[in-house]
Amino acid sequence: MRLLYFGLIPIGLYLIFNQLFYTWLPTNYKFDKVVLQQLVQETLNEFPQGNATEIMINLTPKLQKQYPGLINDLTFTEWFYNNAGGAMGQMTILHASISEYLIFFGTSVGTEGHTGVHFADDYFTILTGEQRAAYPGVLTPEIYKPGDQHHLPKGHVKQYAMPGGSFALELAQGWIPAMLPFGLLDTLSSTLDFHTFYLTSYYTARDMIKNLLNGKF
Ligand SMILES: *[C@@H]1O[C@H](CO)[C@@H](O)[C@H](O)[C@H]1NC(C)=O
Repeated sequence: MRLLYFGLIPIGLYLIFNQLFYTWLPTNYKFDKVVLQQLVQETLNEFPQGNATEIMINLTPKLQKQYPGLINDLTFTEWFYNNAGGAMGQMTILHASISEYLIFFGTSVGTEGHTGVHFADDYFTILTGEQRAAYPGVLTPEIYKPGDQHHLPKGHVKQYAMPGGSFALELAQGWIPAMLPFGLLDTLSSTLDFHTFYLTSYYTARDMIKNLLNGKF
């Protein structure tokens, strides 16, 4: 009886959160994946030599103009590592709230790993370099180049790789807090880099609270 009870609570919660994912949660979304891809492509046309620094510096004000009050200023001091699914990259947060995040993510060095299983849709628009990804049983990878957008639907998993010098603008829409264990647990179980753990938690919480106080869920 007790087993049944404690088994039913997580299943019940899952069903509720899953139902909300398809109904109420999207009413909180502010970002549009099509608009983001257009702004990236516009910026890439202005910087055809593919300098990631210049692209980010020029893309960020366009994002701020499109989404007033929602996008942080870009600094190169608020970057931190991300270890997850065996892959390692670096990122900075442009926006984080309960239902969405927008980040610059990439790697100077190159990386490869597991995408994670997420309670969110992920839209990964390439700025420089490339991303390769594949489902099991698919023997040639999908290849995403600058300006392309890789959509990883909720619950889907792929193996992915990015060579050195690959950076992207990444939008996630869904239950963002449910993504955080994937983003943080490699630190506790593997790297023991508690400074990175602190930076990830601090910057994420700072933005989520700020946006929540401004009425952005
Ligand atoms: C890319 O642009 C930044 C900022 O303008 C500059 O400092 C850097 O030297 C450039 N890198 C290359 C490889 O041209």
